[in-house]
Amino acid sequence: PRTARRGPDGALTIGGVDVRALVEEFGTPAYFLDEEDFRARCRAWRDAFGPDADVFYAGKAFLCRAVVRWLTEEGLNLDVCSGGELATALAGGMPADRIALHGNNKSAAEIERAVEAGVGRIVLDSLQEIERVAATARRLGRRQRVQLRVTVGVEAHTHEFIATAHEDQKFGLALAGGQAADGVRRVLAQDSLELAGVHSHIGSQIFDTAGFEVAAHRVVGLLKAIRDEHGLELPEIDLGGGLGIAYTPADDPREPHEIARALRDIVTRECDAAGLARPRLSVEPGRAVVGPTAVTVYEVGTTKELPGLRTYVSVDGGMSDNIRTALYDAEYSVALASRTSEAPPMLTRVVGKHCESGDIVVRDAHLPADTAVGDLLAVPATGAYCRSMASNYNHVARPPVVAVRDGRARVLLRRETEEDLLRLDVG
Ligand code: LLP
Repeated sequence: PRTARRGPDGALTIGGVDVRALVEEFGTPAYFLDEEDFRARCRAWRDAFGPDADVFYAGKAFLCRAVVRWLTEEGLNLDVCSGGELATALAGGMPADRIALHGNNKSAAEIERAVEAGVGRIVLDSLQEIERVAATARRLGRRQRVQLRVTVGVEAHTHEFIATAHEDQKFGLALAGGQAADGVRRVLAQDSLELAGVHSHIGSQIFDTAGFEVAAHRVVGLLKAIRDEHGLELPEIDLGGGLGIAYTPADDPREPHEIARALRDIVTRECDAAGLARPRLSVEPGRAVVGPTAVTVYEVGTTKELPGLRTYVSVDGGMSDNIRTALYDAEYSVALASRTSEAPPMLTRVVGKHCESGDIVVRDAHLPADTAVGDLLAVPATGAYCRSMASNYNHVARPPVVAVRDGRARVLLRRETEEDLLRLDVG
């Protein structure tokens, strides 16, 4: 399914509901999420990887209790990376053994909560954390299943990847230099830990499988070294998330079944060559599941023509509901949503209402020349890392997330109010 289509008179419909009706009920700005599209993407990932692999949705992309319920129903697992995400996962009813806890600096409380809840996997990120999780599990009388996160010296973004011998970043234990092998020894020395496998995450918004192939090659190399040193074949590998989506028509993302086939092939080939039984594979897509399923709808408040340059179109949100343009120079498209127009295109910049010039939603956009105050604009592909990275900058209330399905809409996260903003102000 495609989240947004044009209805009979040219206005956008989302999940079968006219955008004007949605806005009348829920206001602007708002994120409208197509539940059926979300579920279909979950199923596509599940089906692509099949029963001998696990798909962990990366909750950082967007998480709320309803999403947790959908994931549970559609057979996905859930990757969380904070106490807050863990609490939401449990509150939404995800069985603990389908939850993985990530993080490079998990607090004592987060570790304790996860072990106590019985999460299926804690992904260990440092030598110190091995001791911490082991001690907590021992104290609670548990044997905790863990994976060790390794950095394989591959960094992938969008169209390219680079392989470097030494990485200068905070995650995981480096394969190069033997830190990962040291970590393996330390985990195996802990009775309260069960080393289930090795984890690698190489980056985000990746369109090319080459980086994953190098990562798989190196991870399998570690499994082989573990077998040779310890006489132990680890049963799991996780190759992380990162599959790219189309933000603009120029993007050409891989489908889940393509990535599944590529990853399965490379892992099988590498394991066969190393004489290892093929471990159970897991992946952690976030953006590719939720990104395309939501549209942000704004109302145009002001237009300003800069002769010879362009027209600035100001909407009633901005960097507080979508920081990605300012933060990553991310590209989005935008469309006039409340009507169609025969007017010729004009060059615009769609900007927000915040007090800085970097507050840009879409840097270069062609909108009809008659785009005017009161028109609704839709920015597609805002399901991932928009609400989850939203802020209250300038004391702007965060927009609601509204799920639409079968012509019916319901609020998943309500719009913040001024009372919400003032509630924390206790001085
Ligand atoms: N697994 C791990 C260990 C991760 O660190 C991430 C993303 C994922 C999975 C999910 O990656 P995805 O499939 O969604 O690309 N906020 C940024 C992206 C940072 C992602 C960090 N980790 C953005 O807005 O693009």
